[in-house]
Amino acid sequence: MVTVLRGNIVHTPSFGKLETVPGGYLVLEDGVVKGIFPQLPEEYAGCPTEDWRDRLILPSFADLHLHAPQYPMLGMGMDLPLLDWLNAYTFKTEARFEDTDYARRVYRSLAEELIANGTTRVAMFSSRHTDATLILMEELERAGVTGYVGKVNMDRNSGVAQETTEESLRETLRWLEGCRFQHIKPILTPRFTPSCTNELMAELGRLAAERNLPVQSHLSENAGEIAWVKELHPDREQYWETYEKYGLWKPGTLMAHCVHSDERERAAMAKAGVWAVHCAASNVNICSGTAPVRRMLEEGVSVALGSDIAGGDQLAMSQVVVTSIRASKVKAMETGEPFLTVPEAFYLGTAAGSRYFGGEGFAPGYPLHAMVVDETAFPESARELTLAERFERAVYLMDKSSISAVYSEGRRVK
Ligand code: GUN
Ligand code: FE
Repeated sequence: MVTVLRGNIVHTPSFGKLETVPGGYLVLEDGVVKGIFPQLPEEYAGCPTEDWRDRLILPSFADLHLHAPQYPMLGMGMDLPLLDWLNAYTFKTEARFEDTDYARRVYRSLAEELIANGTTRVAMFSSRHTDATLILMEELERAGVTGYVGKVNMDRNSGVAQETTEESLRETLRWLEGCRFQHIKPILTPRFTPSCTNELMAELGRLAAERNLPVQSHLSENAGEIAWVKELHPDREQYWETYEKYGLWKPGTLMAHCVHSDERERAAMAKAGVWAVHCAASNVNICSGTAPVRRMLEEGVSVALGSDIAGGDQLAMSQVVVTSIRASKVKAMETGEPFLTVPEAFYLGTAAGSRYFGGEGFAPGYPLHAMVVDETAFPESARELTLAERFERAVYLMDKSSISAVYSEGRRVK
């Protein structure tokens, strides 16, 4: 069935390119984009139309790195760097997800909050708990979120959140058995090299190959972490090689952070088709640094954005986009490399993520992922604004109260 959305359509068809269609028409067939038109083609006249009048129709966000069981500690624990932060706060918070009733409550509100803020695609870490992970997947599916969720594997150096190697492998298989969701699929999730024994990493690598499963983890986030990985794997020159050693370094592998990845590590990412997920707020909050995003992109590394809650304090990806622009300006002041523009950062927070999942923003042939933004709560402007200016202002000022509607995988979910 053909349906039509009418409004001010703004999107980023490629990195750095902004396309604006004032009073345009987004034509859908069974939720799949057929095209964007400045005037409605004759053949679609009379099709059911949702008229959003003067509002903005933008692509919705993709959050390619966040920790669901850290949602309860959002905005807390900002006084410690990564490794101390994990031991003092994070593992204890995640251990609570043994309790499935608690998991249901927290994950339902997280899923609803994601959609309310315009995030329709995710690559998410759960905790080590199989049952809570399946509950998380169910709640995301119910709310209309799409993408990947991983039961976390962690059989060493993980305090109260730790599992045994045998348990980790057995529970991973039980979790995979239970993954029967339409829009939420499993991703193998060794937490990071320090929290996984060699035996566990090897088994996960085997499973990834055997069942053709994607992989997500953390890479080169923090100096202390990198030194520790070197101690644990003296036979490997660089952090990334500890994943490569066990078959976890492959096309589509998501690596969060890569703050300290040097030219050699970045070249290995570009060559293998491994993605860097940039989490600017988290990288400042837990004192990791600022990733060289511009250089990564120039060197052919695929980059998307992540909120990384609760290292990151912002679940709203609009704010994550803004923070990545700010962080890139800090980097620019240090190095002289150009900072990220608003359309560039917005592309990384939307279309880049859709590309990871085999989509392409608003391009024809892909199910619609979009949000409608209402600007009435923004300050009255001093003059008439162009659509490009309105887009910039919306990225900086929008919050969930400005999002009138959200579409995910072709369906309206808000
Ligand atoms: N490295 C290993 N675990 C974590 C985590 O939970 N958050 C962040 N930011 N880095 C990690
Ligand atoms: Fe993380």
